Amino acid sequence: MEKTLLINCSPKKKLSVSGFIMRCAGLMIRGEKEYLCLRTPADRERILQAMVTSGKVVFVLPLYVDGVPSHVLSFLKEAEAFCGEKGLRMKVYAIANNGFIEGRQNEPLMQVMENFCARSGLEWCGGVGIGGGVMLNVERIMMPVMFGLTLVNMLLNAVQGLNVLEPVWSFGISVGELLLLCCGIIFFTARLAAHIGRGTNAGKRYTRVMLPSFVFILFADIFFTIISVFQGGIFRGWFSRPKPDDDCGIIVAKDHQ
Ligand SMILES: Cc1cc2nc3c(=O)[nH]c(=O)nc-3n(C[C@H](O)[C@H](O)[C@H](O)COP(=O)(O)O)c2cc1C
Repeated sequence: MEKTLLINCSPKKKLSVSGFIMRCAGLMIRGEKEYLCLRTPADRERILQAMVTSGKVVFVLPLYVDGVPSHVLSFLKEAEAFCGEKGLRMKVYAIANNGFIEGRQNEPLMQVMENFCARSGLEWCGGVGIGGGVMLNVERIMMPVMFGLTLVNMLLNAVQGLNVLEPVWSFGISVGELLLLCCGIIFFTARLAAHIGRGTNAGKRYTRVMLPSFVFILFADIFFTIISVFQGGIFRGWFSRPKPDDDCGIIVAKDHQ
């Protein structure tokens, strides 16, 4: 069976949603697998060499400014020339995730990947676009914390002579809620993994974290307000005047002369 190469295309060193999705998808894909990261130009050569020995490649990417992150774009340009030179013909899949709740926002990214395949002589086999990717990070941090708290509660209940299994029941409910929130993501990732295993075309599918949009926006607003307070102050920039040597100011002023 041909090897499947999975590439985490997030530039983040830690806690990348793409890395998490890549590992989960990898668990569902049958056969031999290789996992690599594309963060810096230094990673490119290793990935290109791994492509030579792979029958299928899965790009797992974040959506940046409605498209492919720039460091991936420059890699694709290099890969296009490399694949043409070596006459590679592997099958290409993509799993994209984005911050907004609508998974369909990944459509332009999917089109870039499809065009890359057409230009490189590779076989585009579709992918999955996942909305609300940030929530997956929240969930994967929360779950081990809640598991730990469950163990502590069980211990405390045992000491106090209370029902030891009660915290397990609460934890079970939380896991159930998580599975419900992620049911679309799990289903479409498993479906894609089955296609990758068979080497067939999966088409493009879009899914999301199963939260109503207004709830997601509320939580996102709270989350980013807290982040903004911790990373420089909530009013940073709001009342500051543009600096005299600000590039934008100079260019605009010149243009209007
Ligand atoms: C520079 C930058 C640009 C982004 N642009 C978009 C965007 O256009 N639309 C969107 O829905 N999310 C956008 N996001 C959010 C990311 O897609 C989202 O946080 C994703 O889960 C990051 O995945 P990662 O952890 O694997 O890098 C952007 C994030 C960054 C840092």
